[in-house]
Amino acid sequence: MLILGIESTCDETAASIVKDGTIVLSHSIASSAEIHRQYGGVFPELACRRHIDAILPVIAEALRDSKISPHDLDAIAVSKGPGLIGALLIGLQAAKGLAIAWKKPLIGINHVEAHLYAAFMSQNPPFPALGFVLSGGHTLMLNVMSVGRYELLGTTVDDAIGEAFDKAATILGLSYPGGPALEKLAETGDEKKFPFTPPKVKKNPLAFSFSGLKTAVLYAQKKASPDDYPDIAASFQKTAFDDLSIKAELAMKAASYRSIVFGGGVTNNQRLRDHFAQKFPQIPQFWPSFGLSTDNAIMIAGLAHHKLLSGDFAPLDLEAMPRLPFWIEEKE
Ligand code: KG4
Ligand code: ZN
Repeated sequence: MLILGIESTCDETAASIVKDGTIVLSHSIASSAEIHRQYGGVFPELACRRHIDAILPVIAEALRDSKISPHDLDAIAVSKGPGLIGALLIGLQAAKGLAIAWKKPLIGINHVEAHLYAAFMSQNPPFPALGFVLSGGHTLMLNVMSVGRYELLGTTVDDAIGEAFDKAATILGLSYPGGPALEKLAETGDEKKFPFTPPKVKKNPLAFSFSGLKTAVLYAQKKASPDDYPDIAASFQKTAFDDLSIKAELAMKAASYRSIVFGGGVTNNQRLRDHFAQKFPQIPQFWPSFGLSTDNAIMIAGLAHHKLLSGDFAPLDLEAMPRLPFWIEEKE
């Protein structure tokens, strides 16, 4: 089965052709991140305008590199949400137009579910898996029963973890996107120097909260000299990762899991991978290959294979959905 995947939820315009859910024939991506750098975060209107310019060239490149003809495609898949409404609309309109022109079925993909699927592209984690989506817009801990069946265990009550990395990075004078820059700065820092407290959410031990940690970084920075910034970065990073592993441990006490699966931009962080390997040596851990942590269309076309097999096609009036849960709600 050959699927063209299209991604345009935020500041990356991407297209990819994937065979049978795992074999990547091509991948093309255009990023507008450099435009947003001067604003310290994504400027939605500018991101949307760049999608308009980039969408067709990116799709054309993915097709050319794959060496297949559009007639060979079995479906066209597109991120339908969550994301910036204007950005989503551009990918959706392109996908619908091509579906009509080439007479192919359309598949709507949840971008966040696709982040979790990225780890399944080259591996077969055993179920049930404890799943983490750690991105710029989401922090989710899930019981993954199979690809397509998820139960929410905990999410953030305020900032997402990637957002907290970006904000902490800005406080420390680093440019957008701050996550990779903060990881680099932390490499030379002492993570015990600033004993920040892992955040707790009253009445919900599995929920996350990162805005207090970001404020703690701000207070520490105000009193510190730039020489201390690596220590602040390392301490922030350690506290955020301790928080994830504390909650993973709680979840694993309440139910048994055969693996842990990770997805989303923050999983690019090597320190995070080492942290989990060291905390949970007894349980196999599955991470996306590095290019698949951040936004891409490979994961969209990959997950679409499973939707295609279950006949989960979208109508041509499929709408963009800025908010879009894909899980069964939290257990009481
Ligand atoms: O998954 P993603 O590409 O986009 C969303 O769907 O949100 O995630 C982007 C987020 C940004 O907040 C970025 O700072 C963070 O992932 N990120 C990192 C690293 N690389 C990207 N955070 C920490 N360490 C990294 N190495
Ligand atoms: Zn994403």
